[in-house]
Amino acid sequence: MKAVWYERIGNADEVLVYGERQKPTPRPGEVLVRVEYSAVHPSDVKKRAGFQPAGFSDGFVIPHSDGSGTIEDVGEGVEDRRGERVWIYQAQYGRHLGSCAEYIAVPSMMAPKLPGNADFSIGACIGIPVMTAYRCVHVAGEPTDKVVLVTGASGRVGYYAVQWAKLANAKVIATAGTDENCQAALDAGADSVLNYRDGDLAHLILECAGPRGVDHIIDVEFGQNAEVSAEILNNCGTIATYSSSKNPEPVIPFYPMMFKNVSVHTVLVYNMPDAAKQQAVDAVHDALSGGQLKHRISATFPIAETAKAHELIESGNAAGCVLIRVSG
Ligand SMILES: NC(=O)c1ccc[n+]([C@@H]2O[C@H](COP(=O)([O-])OP(=O)(O)OC[C@H]3O[C@@H](n4cnc5c(N)ncnc54)[C@H](OP(=O)(O)O)[C@@H]3O)[C@@H](O)[C@H]2O)c1
Repeated sequence: MKAVWYERIGNADEVLVYGERQKPTPRPGEVLVRVEYSAVHPSDVKKRAGFQPAGFSDGFVIPHSDGSGTIEDVGEGVEDRRGERVWIYQAQYGRHLGSCAEYIAVPSMMAPKLPGNADFSIGACIGIPVMTAYRCVHVAGEPTDKVVLVTGASGRVGYYAVQWAKLANAKVIATAGTDENCQAALDAGADSVLNYRDGDLAHLILECAGPRGVDHIIDVEFGQNAEVSAEILNNCGTIATYSSSKNPEPVIPFYPMMFKNVSVHTVLVYNMPDAAKQQAVDAVHDALSGGQLKHRISATFPIAETAKAHELIESGNAAGCVLIRVSG
């Protein structure tokens, strides 16, 4: 089968190889998927670059955790799902065979059904961004009627966090860094949007939130935003944060947070509880079936140009999901 892989960490154009690899066979409990699209996300790129463990258990890694395709075969103990359209998540978490190949064998539960009205390209956008966003919106309790702040609301995760929070009937305040990205946050359904680069952000957020302040924050840059977060949260406010890349070892404003009983939930999509994964999968199915989610696809590359897709993610200039067209 055609596939992309790497055998050492390094720059995308130096270590990613495109060529032929052996087609996998599904083991007990697995399904074999003919892949349509593979998605490139920051964690895929960080693994290839050496910032996160990649897992060279067999001497090479086929990258990417998310994808979509059609089940072609099933392993022992799996109901006959042949012909079913699916989306794939976590394919390259703790495994060396990811989705950037014509075929992938994954545990059946990691290939949920893709509703008929959702294109394969949409299916590949789901895994990391949509499941992370769902967890962050719900991890501290139902956000219904709460005031929720989504920082970085035009980002791949943030864009879906706004939508999940609105679907749960929260009042959503969003932040983004450019006029274009502020517009994207509005398009996602945010009730109000602020540019986080503007002065006195805390004051502006509180003006939008009203007298009770913010109940819950979904935060893309915990360290950079910690002081503002402590200022705007109300008593017993909560933060769900999935990244702090610009300030990975932040100073925490402990007393401003303690005096408000603030709780911080860190979220890693890969190893969140199985029950939370299943809740996200079920919610995705309902939302996709009902056409309730909007999606942003920044660019689609042929599989032979996977290195360019990695470079686009690394540039920070991808406004939405970056996909690899694997088949067709
Ligand atoms: N923990 C997990 O499970 C998990 C899951 C998914 C992603 N992640 C991580 O989360 C990070 C974001 O991923 P992504 O795919 O969503 O990236 P993305 O699409 O590039 O979005 C990041 C967004 O953050 C915004 N931003 C930057 N600094 C900000 C600040 N101080 N306040 C508010 N917004 C700010 C940027 O907005 P502007 O461009 O408008 O400035 C950008 O839209 C990455 O580090 C990724 O590895 C973690």
